[in-house]
Amino acid sequence: MKVSIDTAKCAGHARCNALAPEVYDLDDDGYALPLDGEIPPELEEKARDGAESCPERAIVLA
Ligand code: F3S
Repeated sequence: MKVSIDTAKCAGHARCNALAPEVYDLDDDGYALPLDGEIPPELEEKARDGAESCPERAIVLA
């Protein structure tokens, strides 16, 4: 599973980080940092929870 952040859509709600800090890092302004990597199987559920929590739908799972 891969996760990417659409930084143009991210508005800094930080819910992704609150639910899954192991997957989603924030920059100093509270926006999700771009992420481009394979999510280990044990973190896939958390990655999904974080993505579903984003009100901007800025997190894309593939
Ligand atoms: Fe951004 Fe959505 Fe997270 S707006 S900080 S990707 S909850």
